[in-house]
Amino acid sequence: MPATVVVCTQWGDSGKGKFVDYLAEDADLIVRYSGGNNAGHTVVVGDEKFALHLIPCGVIRGKRVAIGNGVVVNPHVLKDEIDYLESRGINVDLTVSERAHVITEKHIEKERGESRIDTTKRGIGPCYEDKIGRRGTRMIDYAKEHKEFQEMIGDVSLLVNEALDRNEHVLFEGAQGTLLDIDHGTYPYVTSSNPIAGGICTGVGISPKRIDRIIGVAKAYVTRVGKGPFPTELGTYEKTKAEGRWEEIEPNFEEQLEDALKRANGGNKYYQGKYMRLQGREYGTTTGRARRCGWFDSVAARHSCMINKPDEIALTKLDVLSGLRELKICTAYRKDGELIERFPVELEGCKPVYGTFGGWEEDITQIRDFNELPKNAQTYVSILELYLKAPITMIGVGPEREQIILNQY
Ligand code: GDP
Ligand code: IMO
Ligand code: MG
Repeated sequence: MPATVVVCTQWGDSGKGKFVDYLAEDADLIVRYSGGNNAGHTVVVGDEKFALHLIPCGVIRGKRVAIGNGVVVNPHVLKDEIDYLESRGINVDLTVSERAHVITEKHIEKERGESRIDTTKRGIGPCYEDKIGRRGTRMIDYAKEHKEFQEMIGDVSLLVNEALDRNEHVLFEGAQGTLLDIDHGTYPYVTSSNPIAGGICTGVGISPKRIDRIIGVAKAYVTRVGKGPFPTELGTYEKTKAEGRWEEIEPNFEEQLEDALKRANGGNKYYQGKYMRLQGREYGTTTGRARRCGWFDSVAARHSCMINKPDEIALTKLDVLSGLRELKICTAYRKDGELIERFPVELEGCKPVYGTFGGWEEDITQIRDFNELPKNAQTYVSILELYLKAPITMIGVGPEREQIILNQY
């Protein structure tokens, strides 16, 4: 279908990058529409690993890519990312919107020190503040002073609309996630843009009528990096942070994983989260921060699905749950004795109500056919599908490009 969107239904880091890379095979143009280099998208192709922050992942396949006006661009990061890709033998065919706003040193300076909400400290919020305050610098102005960007900038709205007129396949790459949306997320613990599917219309300049297919990305559990309410969290923000970054974990990773699994299956909630973190390598692509982990939250997922109305779901990281004896899915919240089924504006005090399901022991990373998954894994996916009210058409069973189960309907 000509215009396809990949949007995260959670708090980001759900594996958008991997699915954009996968879907880019059939795309002519891949476009980012929101956020900036707060995003970190990892793509694994064979034994090669790419970490991208600004340029859409389709670039790895040598496809034409664009950055829309809704994105905030740090020109130094952009230049470095182009150099990084070219040094790895990738041809970068990129157009950056003339209307995209520029992140300056001043914006980054404003975020130094301890952050109230624990941002990525990339100057994202301050840059959007200047944009909305009508004080910002756009790429068109920046390029007048920095000639090396002149060739790269253009009218991305026109580019995309003309590509769609020619019936070309355009893929829109989401950054962040619905629950981090400035309007529809867990404010104030959010980013400063609109990562939702609707953000494409303003962030690129196309009509809502032009969007044909929306793919919601959901991890088989939930993660969140940074502060903010997280009803299904296993552990706490502080305890997760105290574990340290990936560099500190890596030296005795195997021992920690084995210990976490034993304790997780003994019923220890913190270690259930720690097992997800270790097994899923839940450490930020952008900042290396340990991600908080928790059970799948279908109340939050319903909210995201209502807002994005995905035609289908790409479920990621199902393989990470292998080994856990019991799995939980949050079906509602309870607050002051009351059952809450709709995602409330204030999450504070909401306690999850869980359904419990049997887990599986088998390694599923080599499976490519849904029917070959352990029965409990099939059941888990089917239950999620019921809650998401959209078909799960793709299932991630590993970080690699080929580690996807296509679920036929
Ligand atoms: P994004 O920001 O949504 O693109 O996600 P990130 O790249 O920040 O984080 C997702 C991480 O999970 C990356 O390290 C991916 O390589 C990895 N990943 C993606 N899909 C899968 C999967 O199905 N299974 C496993 N084990 N890892 C995955
Ligand atoms: P991808 O595209 C996960 C979070 C930060 C912080 C909040 C605000 O990789 O999914 P910001 O720097 O944007 O002002 O920080 O948003 N955040 C992300 N969390 N994945 C991301 O991007 C994120 N981008 C921002 O941790 O809580
Ligand atoms: Mg990420």
